[in-house]
Amino acid sequence: MAKIVLVHSFRGGTGKSNTTANLATAIACTGQRVAVIDTDIQSPGIHVLFGMEQENPLKHTLNDYLWGDCAIEDAAYEVSPAAVRQSNGSIFLLPSSIEAEDMTRVLHEGYDVRLLKNGFRNLVKALNLDYIFVDTHPGLNEETLLSIAIANILVVILRPDRQDLQGTAVMVDLARQLKVPKILMIVNRVLQDLDSDAVRQQLEAKYDVPVVGVLPNCDEMMRLASSDLFCLQYPDHPLTQEIKTVAQSIMT
Ligand SMILES: Nc1ncnc2c1ncn2[C@@H]1O[C@H](COP(=O)(O)OP(=O)(O)OP(=O)(O)O)[C@@H](O)[C@H]1O
Ligand SMILES: [Mg+2]
Repeated sequence: MAKIVLVHSFRGGTGKSNTTANLATAIACTGQRVAVIDTDIQSPGIHVLFGMEQENPLKHTLNDYLWGDCAIEDAAYEVSPAAVRQSNGSIFLLPSSIEAEDMTRVLHEGYDVRLLKNGFRNLVKALNLDYIFVDTHPGLNEETLLSIAIANILVVILRPDRQDLQGTAVMVDLARQLKVPKILMIVNRVLQDLDSDAVRQQLEAKYDVPVVGVLPNCDEMMRLASSDLFCLQYPDHPLTQEIKTVAQSIMT
């Protein structure tokens, strides 16, 4: 059965979109069929990591599906990089619209998350998927809460920052109340001179959730500036190795 993996953080800029794109790629490189859905409708961006600039309006986006204007699979675009195709995997991207009027319409009207749940089911069938990765808007709102409730796996990302620490506790509690079957934690942008095992142990003691990735802060990622997929650009980098470890935790 396909798994729905929701990647979320309480605060913004924690690395959700980059981590989601790289995890999806690492898993697709093991021959899996993966969809990546941008539910950050207010500030979409993950399409850029897959080389889709949206300079010209797309025929269909996730917005059109949520407004009942197309089938969900009509908003899916295959973006598999060569390395993924060579491994017999696939990545499909469902971008959100970057047209200002589409974004503001969502702010005014919201959307019905039940449509997302049905949409995921139909998408799995239409594209024969193994995984759906959902990139989210940070913080808590009604749509996010309902999306958390339909995830099989919630991946919570935080930075080693006091503001992140407190908000993340609230989120983990909520996810427990919503009975998410599997909650995993990633800490990103950890200074490289810190002891990553000690960081992991501290967070596991605080949240009682497995910390499956301690991702180093690194200049290469900053220089890439979301222009590409880090794990394909730097296959031997410690950050890529850690992404692969997280991918294994998701797949098992
Ligand atoms: N491990 C890292 N080392 C250095 N820079 C990083 C690392 N992870 C992410 N970044 C940088 O942090 C910025 C934010 O990353 P990203 O867009 O993935 O975060 P986000 O959580 O999706 O943000 P938002 O909440 O706005 O959607 C990007 O410029 C990215 O290159
Ligand atoms: Mg993002």
